[in-house]
Amino acid sequence: MKELENQLLVIFGASGDLTSRKLIPALYELFVQKILPAQFAILGTGRTDMTSAQFRNKLSKGLEEKAEKKPDYSEIGSFTDILHYISVDTENTAEYYKLKEKIEELRHINSIEGNCIFYLATPPGMYEIVATGLKNIGLTTNSDGWKRIIVEKPFGMNLKSARLLNRHLLECFNEDQIYRIDHYLGKETVQNVMVTRFSNGIFEPLWNRNYIQHIEVTSAEDMGVESRGGYYDKSGAMRDMIQNHLLQLVSLIAMEPPSRMNAHSIRNETLKVLQSIRQLETDDIAKHVIRGQYMASEVRGTRYKSYREEPGVSPDSRTETFVALRLHIDNWRWGGVPFYIRTGKRLPTRVTEIVVHFKPTPHKLFCFDEDRTNSDNQLIIRIQPDEGILLKFGMKVPGAGFIVQDVSMDFHYADLAQKNIPEAYQRLLVDCMQGDATLFSRGDAIEQSWIIVDPILKAWENNQSIPIYGYPAATWGPIQADALIEGPNMTWRFPCKNLADGDYCEL
Ligand code: BG6
Repeated sequence: MKELENQLLVIFGASGDLTSRKLIPALYELFVQKILPAQFAILGTGRTDMTSAQFRNKLSKGLEEKAEKKPDYSEIGSFTDILHYISVDTENTAEYYKLKEKIEELRHINSIEGNCIFYLATPPGMYEIVATGLKNIGLTTNSDGWKRIIVEKPFGMNLKSARLLNRHLLECFNEDQIYRIDHYLGKETVQNVMVTRFSNGIFEPLWNRNYIQHIEVTSAEDMGVESRGGYYDKSGAMRDMIQNHLLQLVSLIAMEPPSRMNAHSIRNETLKVLQSIRQLETDDIAKHVIRGQYMASEVRGTRYKSYREEPGVSPDSRTETFVALRLHIDNWRWGGVPFYIRTGKRLPTRVTEIVVHFKPTPHKLFCFDEDRTNSDNQLIIRIQPDEGILLKFGMKVPGAGFIVQDVSMDFHYADLAQKNIPEAYQRLLVDCMQGDATLFSRGDAIEQSWIIVDPILKAWENNQSIPIYGYPAATWGPIQADALIEGPNMTWRFPCKNLADGDYCEL
């Protein structure tokens, strides 16, 4: 990796949860690994009145608590020396001059040129306000060093607001200065989808409608909405997970090989997939999309609250905490291959995986043992946890006759000598620091994913007769979702924490 240029990172919303939970731990890890630029400083801003010393103190406590072994106090101390804080009311135009002065002071002390990243870790309602504030004080132009802005999700609440936000950001920054984060793209195992497909000659020839029966993408969480009920109740699983993370996964699985490994080529290909996803007609929505909400349940002596009992959630909420849908990609490669996608909170375990189901052999020669009713070869790409890849195929049961049983070949990241899988935020921060936007979403792709999701959200809003099914917490969602998968003996894979089924399953 080439050395990073000198630069300043300004975090808006620095007193918030994202900064302490994700950004600072990622930056600390980069500091420990000596990846951060030699001349570098982090300036946190927020409404909270705090001195730099208080800011450092608060964040170093967080890092100490997060340390797996004994915290390295001296390393944490050296890291927090590069942290600074200024309280700014970002809704007040005059306060931006105060911010500019502080930026200039830090640049001067640390011999930093004009290179600057602005990280919006604020509530989304502030994105336009902050971008305009920065533009007004001349901090969005590349005249004295590059300027980049990182925007967190949610990127809009629907197509209209996403378009407006894009338009507004583009009035303040150029597209190549805007880094829209989708943290799934920062996951090592998500990037490995492209490497698995395009660095091996054995998969790509089969990767199409001729050999693939259907594809499943599951992102399950065992947690409920925790303390985020206020946000989640206005968002729901469709906006929170499908519109961004899961559609990104689908585009990586379904994309054509890019001509180059660069932001432009890769993002052009993933956009084409999103453009090819068939839009659902209002009348088809109830058939293709199942939504659910978790209800209270008791599992092995533990009582789980219902979604409606969670803090910040309306007691008669109709917000979905589970979505399963059947998608079709209308292009030459994928015509006729259904993609089944599901996500939910309070499911039995936390797991994200892609399951590619290959077509059965054209002629059935052998008998299968009792567990195997179909010659269903599967390639499972495990995003998390127990990250790895597993291929299932049939093998002869030793002895008389030709009985076939399922066996698995598996690779686990944990078996690599280099076991540390970097956190998504580490990778994404470094990429932005070096100006590589490959793993960030482009404005047109975000709008396109809203084009897919918007009609579903509208139908749910306008047609109260489309059911929202209850499912007991810690189960795999409403049973109606099982019926989405077409074909005899076809069902979702019900994964455990471990990638291979034969190993211990916690469920
Ligand atoms: C976030 C969602 O974007 O992704 C959360 O807002 C969700 O609701 C989280 O829990 C899941 O991310 P991960 O990395 O834990 O799979």
